Amino acid sequence: MANVSLKNLDITLGGNAIIRNLDLEVEEGEFLVLLGPSGCGKSTLLHSIAGLLDISGGSIAIGGRDMSRTDPSERGIGMVFQSYALYPTMTVEKNMSFGLRIAGAAKGEIKRRVGRAAAMLHLDDLLERKPAALSGGQRQRVAIGRALVREAGVYLFDEPLSNLDAKLRTDLRRELKLLHRQLGATMIYVTHDQVEAMTLASRIVVMRSGQIQQVGTPGEVYDRPANLFVAGFLGAPAMNFVDGAIDADGMFSGSGLRLALGETVPAPGGKAVLGVRPEHISLAPGGPLQGRVTLVEPMGAHRVVWLDCGGIELSCILQGGRVLAPDDAVAFAIDAQRVSLFDADSGKRFETAGASSMLAVTL
Ligand SMILES: Nc1ncnc2c1ncn2[C@@H]1O[C@H](COP(=O)(O)OP(=O)(O)OP(=O)(O)O)[C@@H](O)[C@H]1O
Ligand SMILES: [Mg+2]
Repeated sequence: MANVSLKNLDITLGGNAIIRNLDLEVEEGEFLVLLGPSGCGKSTLLHSIAGLLDISGGSIAIGGRDMSRTDPSERGIGMVFQSYALYPTMTVEKNMSFGLRIAGAAKGEIKRRVGRAAAMLHLDDLLERKPAALSGGQRQRVAIGRALVREAGVYLFDEPLSNLDAKLRTDLRRELKLLHRQLGATMIYVTHDQVEAMTLASRIVVMRSGQIQQVGTPGEVYDRPANLFVAGFLGAPAMNFVDGAIDADGMFSGSGLRLALGETVPAPGGKAVLGVRPEHISLAPGGPLQGRVTLVEPMGAHRVVWLDCGGIELSCILQGGRVLAPDDAVAFAIDAQRVSLFDADSGKRFETAGASSMLAVTL
């Protein structure tokens, strides 16, 4: 395993600056997930680490060695792509060993490595089959196996599960996590699926337009999003936003909500946005806030209930409780300890108004 260090990275494609001035330290053995909307530059970044794309500025070091201009085959990297790109005429065993055979590895060594990867990925019984006789999930396992036989220090994954159906995705996601634990290798994993990011990552890098918005553990980026973009990108349904301002008393006020802020309060007069996760809203008979149900979405283990509260729409996640139907009037409460507050102009989180400093929500 190896660490990866990106410094001041610039990547230009077709005359457009796709990645600008990007710094990122990937620690040895970690499972780092690059998360962001389509077109934000995730694949571009991954391909540059693999050496499949030239960088226009900055540096890439792997395992402490500068690899900025090194040939892909010399970088000690295994890569898995979204499309399996298996050779249709070759068996699973031949597909997995192809790279090693090209590199001139000894027969015994090839056998050992393919055997090890096949065992890890439960492919032992499929080694003589051709790709056409495999399911989508099995094909993707072969593609992962092909990367594993390199016994690389760093593995790169570019949306490896996105072609699979929901059930297979969940299964393979769990297998990948176990595989990471077994191998202890450094993994950099690209996805635009926030559930994959949250469940797999030791740290998540949230990207937008070629720039890093936040780096943190899944808990950090979910509970303390650095800005409105990150706050809105992670979570389903998305975080509720309420526009308002900091009033002369140092309270957040907007759309009928008033929120006392503890400790350090942002300067009065500034426009602010209150962020509330759906699971931090609960029904509270006689509670401080009133709303009208507009929609109920049963999800099995919980319900997503949409409320109209004097013109603002709030989604909440409710576990159990009373039966609700559209037009029902409900009283509810917001867990004031768990809200986020953002500067409306810059979109940045008010660091000083941390979760524990929120005192109360009143009407
Ligand atoms: N060869 C190229 N020439 C010019 N622009 C390119 C080229 N390849 C990619 N781009 C642009 O670079 C940006 C980033 O693309 P990239 O494929 O890295 O996005 P991504 O985050 O992986 O998106 P997705 O989630 O859809 O795979 C996009 O705006 C894309 O149009
Ligand atoms: Mg991509």
